[in-house]
Amino acid sequence: MDIIDKKHVNAGQKRSIAQKLARTSMILIFIGLFIRFYLINSQSTDTYFNFEVEKSLCQQYDYKYPKSFIDNNSVVLKIINDPFFRNQSALKLSKAVQIKTDTYDEDPLVEEDPKYWEDKFKPFHNYLKSTFPKIWNHPNITIETVNGWGLIVTWKGENKDLKPILLTAHQDVVPTQPSTLKDWTYPPYDGHYDGEKLWGRGSADCKNLLIGLLESGEELINFGFKPKRTVIYAFGFDEELGGERGAKYISQFLVDKYGKDSFYIVVDEGGQSIAYENGVLLALPGTGEKGATDIVIGLNTPGGHSSVPPNHTSIGIISKLISLIEDNPFESIFSPKNPTFHEWQCIAKYSNELPRHIKHAILNAEYSAISNKIARDYLSKQSLITKYLISTSSAIDIIHGGVKSNALPEYVEVLINHRIAIESTFKETLKSDISKVKTIADKFDLGIILNDDTIKNKTKNGYFTIKANSVLEPAPITPTTGKVWELFSGNIRHVYEQLAFKDPKSPYFNKSVIVAPGIATGNTDTKYYWNLTNNIYRYRPGLTTSVEAHAHGVDEHILFDSHLQIIAFYFEYLQMINEQDSEND
Ligand SMILES: *[C@@H]1O[C@H](CO)[C@@H](O)[C@H](O)[C@H]1NC(C)=O
Ligand SMILES: *[C@@H]1O[C@H](CO)[C@@H](O)[C@H](O)[C@H]1NC(C)=O
Ligand SMILES: *[C@@H]1O[C@H](CO)[C@@H](O)[C@H](O)[C@H]1NC(C)=O
Ligand SMILES: *[C@@H]1O[C@H](CO)[C@@H](O)[C@H](O)[C@H]1NC(C)=O
Ligand SMILES: *[C@@H]1O[C@H](CO)[C@@H](O)[C@H](O)[C@H]1NC(C)=O
Ligand SMILES: *[C@@H]1O[C@H](CO)[C@@H](O)[C@H](O)[C@H]1NC(C)=O
Ligand SMILES: *[C@@H]1O[C@H](CO)[C@@H](O)[C@H](O)[C@H]1NC(C)=O
Ligand SMILES: [Zn+2]
Repeated sequence: MDIIDKKHVNAGQKRSIAQKLARTSMILIFIGLFIRFYLINSQSTDTYFNFEVEKSLCQQYDYKYPKSFIDNNSVVLKIINDPFFRNQSALKLSKAVQIKTDTYDEDPLVEEDPKYWEDKFKPFHNYLKSTFPKIWNHPNITIETVNGWGLIVTWKGENKDLKPILLTAHQDVVPTQPSTLKDWTYPPYDGHYDGEKLWGRGSADCKNLLIGLLESGEELINFGFKPKRTVIYAFGFDEELGGERGAKYISQFLVDKYGKDSFYIVVDEGGQSIAYENGVLLALPGTGEKGATDIVIGLNTPGGHSSVPPNHTSIGIISKLISLIEDNPFESIFSPKNPTFHEWQCIAKYSNELPRHIKHAILNAEYSAISNKIARDYLSKQSLITKYLISTSSAIDIIHGGVKSNALPEYVEVLINHRIAIESTFKETLKSDISKVKTIADKFDLGIILNDDTIKNKTKNGYFTIKANSVLEPAPITPTTGKVWELFSGNIRHVYEQLAFKDPKSPYFNKSVIVAPGIATGNTDTKYYWNLTNNIYRYRPGLTTSVEAHAHGVDEHILFDSHLQIIAFYFEYLQMINEQDSEND
């Protein structure tokens, strides 16, 4: 604009005045626009908040329950409240904990050592068979195994046109460290029950879910329940090792038998049963999972005697790369694609504790870049967990290099574990690492080989190698609109508000539960079930988070009420689903 003005500086008087006028009005318009922009954006995080938008966010569905809750709810009340039922149930879980089914990273494949697996899982299968005779002997239920010890229990439905339901858990538990045995209040494989809590390895992750599912199945059989949809219970036996022996085979079996996209819903462990955030009680079925990858970067340099070192050895150079990676973390992303986004909008909507400007920033995060930034900054500082629910993480977990004190290290290798943000991909994550390697490679004149491709020629100084050891993309997102979500979330609200929290002794007596989608930072067996349905839920009823339950740690335990809630939930959920007459009902 300036240049054009200079060109026309000698034009006629009239034109000059017109130009001045135009210029002045332009400037005024700019000032006006600036003020408007500034005000809207500063106010959007406070007074200028659109309350219509807030109203439409995080809508809760009505209570959902089966007809039996109205007609005769004696069974579900017995499950929740009856002391005799409670003790029987505690005994079943306690004995399940007593059967040691610990698995180890270095465990063989099943075909490599069938005896190892038989010794470990046969007693558990025998226990289930003798504890749940009504299921094992039912004329319409078949019990099958895959890859030795993957267990598939199929309760055939009356209507072949309805998609089956898959309910899963795992039989294995993480080991206990011998050095920590003395720290356990009760020995980890005693399954000690003190009337309030049940203690031991697997009591919370996740024999409670496995046993609870089968207990609810037996209650349904006693009740005369006849499923219209086929109900399948499937239990892997190496979830803690990644599921390649169990869930992978289960998934293949089910895809072969029923086809792709053939399931109404898959429900597995995971998610947060009940979380208390900023004064809001939440139930958070996991509707997504972050991806994961291990990237291994090697650096090859000429060796030599350590008395005449170059300015930087391979260890020194790779240290600079590590610093570059740690000092330049991934940007956070806070978008509606991420279940965490909806979780925090629910917290923002219902919390009386969140500061007002944060609340409004979160509720407005979809529409204003400034609000979005305020929300991201808040969540990133809140805790490491919330920080990494909205960003890709980088953890430098393994480093190898150097063999001798008087020899220059010729090869050094670092492994970076990334958990990939919901909105990102493996490719983007790898690209970010490559660009950092490139920065260092340019600085020290080194080549780069990615897998088998040269992306920068080797030099006399050496070269980097980059490989991905494992790749898991972020999981497809489970829809949270529509009937499946409505029934599931409505049933959670019902079980808590109308059953569990009716008890004046409950810590949450008369409290409301907000059901929102969520994600956990870890992965479950569900990574093998993506082809079965879009409706994958990671949720197990209960009153505590897995952190509070010390899952994987010393003194793993559950509040026994939580266990009863699993049984009550599935007792009602399966009946309720049965009352839907068609797929879209
Ligand atoms: C309710 O159901 C229970 C268990 O099925 C049964 O024993 C009881 O008689 C029923 N009560 C009524 C009023 O039908
Ligand atoms: C249940 O077990 C507890 C202790 O484990 C015992 O004190 C109580 O009497 C039992 N209740 C019933 C109804 O069996
Ligand atoms: C088994 O399934 C058949 C066919 O759906 C049904 O008629 C029968 O009542 C079922 N048996 C039991 C015990 O539920
Ligand atoms: C090593 O460092 C010295 C200064 O510390 C510098 O002059 C020299 O160029 C460096 N050598 C290389 C190969 O970069
Ligand atoms: C890399 O090396 C190949 C031969 O090995 C050569 O053809 C190519 O021009 C080199 N590329 C660069 C960018 O130097
Ligand atoms: C339960 O909460 C509601 C409102 O949240 C309140 O009106 C009611 O009095 C409470 N009931 C009891 C028994 O505390
Ligand atoms: C889904 O099926 C495709 C083949 O149709 C297969 O390549 C892929 O690995 C399957 N995904 C999962 C998660 O099993
Ligand atoms: Zn688990």
